Amino acid sequence: MFGLRLAEGAELRPLEPWSAGEFAAHVDRVRGDLLPWIPFAKTVVDEESARAYLQGYAERQAAGGGRIFGIWIDGELSGGTLFREFDAEAGVCEVGVWMGAAGRGRGLVTRAVRHMIDWAVRTRGIARVEWRCDPGNERSAAAARRLGFTLEATLRSAYVLDGRRRDVQVWALLAEEWPA
Ligand SMILES: CC(C)(COP(=O)(O)OP(=O)(O)OC[C@H]1O[C@@H](n2cnc3c(N)ncnc32)[C@H](O)[C@@H]1OP(=O)(O)O)[C@@H](O)C(=O)NCCC(=O)NCCS
Repeated sequence: MFGLRLAEGAELRPLEPWSAGEFAAHVDRVRGDLLPWIPFAKTVVDEESARAYLQGYAERQAAGGGRIFGIWIDGELSGGTLFREFDAEAGVCEVGVWMGAAGRGRGLVTRAVRHMIDWAVRTRGIARVEWRCDPGNERSAAAARRLGFTLEATLRSAYVLDGRRRDVQVWALLAEEWPA
């Protein structure tokens, strides 16, 4: 599939069901880095569960909804970004991100999300982009702040991870706040 260059040796590409084996191997490599924050680090445990996860996004994309992308560094799948939700009619979408520890600190996720927001706002007419994260997830909050998101609220006891109810911060960026 065609890719978008993010930096020397780093590329953003759609992550599709045919890459299930590669995705499963990637999740195995970075599982420990993601477990506290990312539900798929628990549920993607082999090629079959990886395919089911990617197939879910392929179906949502076909219906005009969510999408998922991988970030390859020097040819190795190292992280990714997604539209967890994408509702063009309502003009609202939600972005999600992950990166294995070895690929962090280079601004690759920030650059990838900039492309996604450009497309969402300029091409698809999205008015509001959301970013949700655990209040304890400092790197995620730093990435949202760096991109220009505003922290709007903390939803208390909003979901369950590892059998424990968690709060979630809601960050948002409006189309008129996105620089031309
Ligand atoms: C959240 C997560 C993706 C952030 O990764 P990251 O590499 O820190 O994010 P960025 O791509 O924005 O990179 C920022 C870092 O690169 C540096 N950087 C270098 N060049 C840069 C550039 N051109 N633009 C922006 N930042 C740049 C920044 O200074 C920053 O460095 P720091 O780590 O010293 O603060 C990562 O920590 C992660 O995967 N965490 C676990 C999963 C998770 O929490 N996902 C979010 C769930 S809500």
